Amino acid sequence: MTDRYLELANTNLTKSLFDGLGLPTPVRLKREDNADPHQLTGNVLLGSSQGAGFSGEITSILSSTPLAMVNAGDDNKVSLVFDASGISSADESIQLYEFFNQNLKLLAQCGRVIVIGHRPESLSNTTHATLQRGLVGFVKSVAKEIGRKGATANLIYVDKGGKAAIEAPLRFLLSAGSAFMNAQVLTAGKPVTDGAGDWTRPLEGKIALVTGAARGIGLAISQVLARDGATVIGVDVPQAETELKAAMDSIGGLCLPLDITSDGAAEILVNFCQEQGSSLHSIIHNAGITRDKMLSRMTNVQWDLLMQVNLGAAQRINDALMATDLLDNGGKIIGVASISGIAGNVGQTNYGFSKSAVIGMVDSLAKPCAKRGITINAVAPGFIETQMTAAIPFVTRQMGRRLSSLSQGGLPVDVAEVIGFFVSPQAAGINGNTVRVCGQSLLGA
Ligand SMILES: NC(=O)c1ccc[n+]([C@@H]2O[C@H](COP(=O)([O-])OP(=O)(O)OC[C@H]3O[C@@H](n4cnc5c(N)ncnc54)[C@H](O)[C@@H]3O)[C@@H](O)[C@H]2O)c1
Repeated sequence: MTDRYLELANTNLTKSLFDGLGLPTPVRLKREDNADPHQLTGNVLLGSSQGAGFSGEITSILSSTPLAMVNAGDDNKVSLVFDASGISSADESIQLYEFFNQNLKLLAQCGRVIVIGHRPESLSNTTHATLQRGLVGFVKSVAKEIGRKGATANLIYVDKGGKAAIEAPLRFLLSAGSAFMNAQVLTAGKPVTDGAGDWTRPLEGKIALVTGAARGIGLAISQVLARDGATVIGVDVPQAETELKAAMDSIGGLCLPLDITSDGAAEILVNFCQEQGSSLHSIIHNAGITRDKMLSRMTNVQWDLLMQVNLGAAQRINDALMATDLLDNGGKIIGVASISGIAGNVGQTNYGFSKSAVIGMVDSLAKPCAKRGITINAVAPGFIETQMTAAIPFVTRQMGRRLSSLSQGGLPVDVAEVIGFFVSPQAAGINGNTVRVCGQSLLGA
């Protein structure tokens, strides 16, 4: 759906009127060029605190990309990367202040702020851990100050053994694919597999299954994974078979019309995957429904039907897949939660419960998955322009869009790009993460 406000705010004729009235003027975000995706362009200014632990790693990663590493004195517009991992006292936090106080003015339109630190729980020194926790509040506050430029700020926490896993999140956050992921923490841990892959076609030769693939976010996920080289198996309800077939035909994918809540659905799905080969690279549990009603008026059918689609089916499919070795050594499981599962929402007790449980699924399965070389992560989308949000009343829809630091809703592709990153082989150290894809929505932030 078109956001007319965003269009007008970026039209020469009306832009000055918006400025004059002091209205929020959302910037048109830069997104991946599908003809030439994952290209890193622009300048990076890198800084580090004293005693920072990852600067060597970060310098060599950035040097291996086409990004230009520039100095503060150069008159360039930049993205800012700061290794804050050495900050271990209140006095030392001034180093973070100094770098950004001096350089934030250089931040490019749609630029990136990326801070890197230690995961506090991985540190035995309690003062060091305390200071590293402070980075979350810093990054979230910076994100609120730079959103009007279409720029984002995110934090990478490095867990024990995670130094070898910094490259994938660093590249992703610097790429156009992370346009709507804002004010989030990505934790990089010990890789569960060797994580080798091609940066431009990371999913070449791999099979990915997407539920709810006929339209909306599921369709965008399928398109992004196919662009990245995957053969997509699209699953959707039999009533959507025509749409599903058209969608899969357009990306060279396979079609499996199936209601994931029907009897034996998980086994049908696993058998279908086994017929395609000996391994499944990724399963994206995207299918989801809403059945909004105030709790006192909600019927048990509205509760249970939703719970089966959004949660029960995903759990049964995971169990059936884990009973085979299809996902072992490199497989990826993705949950699609929602900010309603984080912040809660009126009329959505059923939806909020199911989406919070999706986050619980990620938290509880991360360790057992890692033992088998599998990662599990989730996205929690905020306001995304789909048929679902087009049905929201006009005023509420405008508020949903504008109440984020980027003053706009996201597109289905924004959610898809984060999933594309999670399932890339190089993200082998990204496990047990749930990130909001919401442009830093004020809801529950
Ligand atoms: N649109 C948003 O703003 C938003 C925000 C947060 C979370 N989400 C989540 O993202 C996911 C996709 O949302 P969307 O906006 O694209 O929704 P959508 O309604 O446009 O698409 C959902 C798809 O899932 C399919 N589906 C539903 N029940 C199914 C079943 N039993 N078996 C197989 N397929 C089934 C539908 O037929 C449909 O094609 C959902 O999990 C939703 O909860 C969306």
